[in-house]
Amino acid sequence: MNKQKERQEKILDIAKRRGFFWQTADIYGGVAGFYDYAHLGCALKRKWENLWRDFFIGLNDNFYEIETCVMMPEAVFRASGHLKSFVDPVVKCSKCKTIFRADHIIKSVLKKDYEGFSPEELMKIIKEHNIVCPGCGGRFEEAGVLNMMFPVDVGTGKETRKAYLLPETAQGAYLNFKQEFECLRKKFPLGLAIIGKAFRNEISPRNVLIRMREFTQAELQIFFNPKKINEHPDFESVKEFKLRLFPVANREKNEIMEVSCEDAVNKLGLPKFYVYHMAKIQEFYTKVLGLSKDIFRFKELSEEERAFYNKYHWDIELFLESLDGFKEVAGIHYRTDHDLSGHQKVSGQSMEVNIDGETFVPHVLELSFGVDRNIYALFELALKEEEERIVLVFPRLVSPYDAGVFPLVSKDRLPEKAKEVFRFLKESGFSVFYDETGSIGRRYRRIDEVGVPAGITIDYESLEDETVTIRDRDSMKQIRVSISELPVVLRRFLAGESLGKLGKPVN
Ligand code: GAP
Repeated sequence: MNKQKERQEKILDIAKRRGFFWQTADIYGGVAGFYDYAHLGCALKRKWENLWRDFFIGLNDNFYEIETCVMMPEAVFRASGHLKSFVDPVVKCSKCKTIFRADHIIKSVLKKDYEGFSPEELMKIIKEHNIVCPGCGGRFEEAGVLNMMFPVDVGTGKETRKAYLLPETAQGAYLNFKQEFECLRKKFPLGLAIIGKAFRNEISPRNVLIRMREFTQAELQIFFNPKKINEHPDFESVKEFKLRLFPVANREKNEIMEVSCEDAVNKLGLPKFYVYHMAKIQEFYTKVLGLSKDIFRFKELSEEERAFYNKYHWDIELFLESLDGFKEVAGIHYRTDHDLSGHQKVSGQSMEVNIDGETFVPHVLELSFGVDRNIYALFELALKEEEERIVLVFPRLVSPYDAGVFPLVSKDRLPEKAKEVFRFLKESGFSVFYDETGSIGRRYRRIDEVGVPAGITIDYESLEDETVTIRDRDSMKQIRVSISELPVVLRRFLAGESLGKLGKPVN
């Protein structure tokens, strides 16, 4: 087994043993591309989603969250282009009849990316390099395409209508746009966010939560006037901010460059409205989540690689050891009026708006995040194997719990006092849990292994002077603070302050 596969196995093993995620229908052998979140994974995912909500919906007073159905009639996908263009290139083995994604089969042999190549181009490469079926060694038949949407029949008998499960949450926002625009006093830009399920019949689901068949997306669709693409009222605040860019032109020398937002506009010719949101995405990863900027980059997609609806398309990538390099976790897409004009044409309903005397079909900037990919990335980046412990160093704000509360021993009124502190923290809005089983050392290890950033211990001193100790998961150092100050101290610690500065050190 190679190093990457080994690390992936370890991630899955720990995720399963500790209660983060595992394959769906495990007792029936599982189904490729489907995963369930267990109690800790669910808490981690909710916290990531809530941070995403607060940050991205908070970017503008006219951004809102909506929720839509995941099953939609065929006409929606005729209009969006998914019926025709949401396809993967495939090849079929002439002997065992297994179907493979053509570009993946080539990549596994030639170790190079061929995403965006046409089926004909891929077949040519397969023939040139004599690539055969990895299962039985058979030759491949001519390459074709397979639509990735899941079809469903809605209704019964003569009333049956063809529908599809949403391959992206985005379409839900486009269908609701006009009504929301009317309800929301016709202001622009208007943002509609959806955190919801997407479904894709991936030919080769793989890499745990990275390529799934049912997954969660967090997407923000920003509707704006295309004439204003070169402005943003808050651009001054980001103009010096350095973006980490990996443009197509840098692929050969494999070099990431740091470019100020101002230069991204003036020298690379990207629109201000687009660049402003790139800065905010980078800020989310490096400031809100606190990830190192060295593992973050925007990768520009070439014309052949871009999704069929995009004019500008940069992926957001994180460096992941278990995937042997940078991996896409999100994307920033300028979709123009592709979707609204498509729905206008097929539905016959006008998608035009009238703002300040001007009538136009709005354009869309889309910030699209795969939640599961982000959870996998956080998990992988957090997993550290130290000499005496395995620890998950999640960013403090997304850890499944904020703190564990423990009595030093389970006697002498310490459990009663500890439960009092536990209830006090819960009522103050923290996600905490209580544990009194085993030695205090073992309890600390247990919270390290599930990534809880703080351990709060009630000892004999607590009964005398109403103080407790707080232990930092990462440094394993402790401080002593009064119970009344605990909520303020814990909040500052979770927001990123170092524990040493927040109370009296304990030897
Ligand atoms: N609405 C635009 C859209 O769906 P995309 O690049 O196809 O764009 C957006 O997907 C994000 O969704 C990706 O960056 C990735 O994080 C996530 N994603 C896509 N396919 C996925 C899959 N099969 N399994 C898990 N996540 C996936």
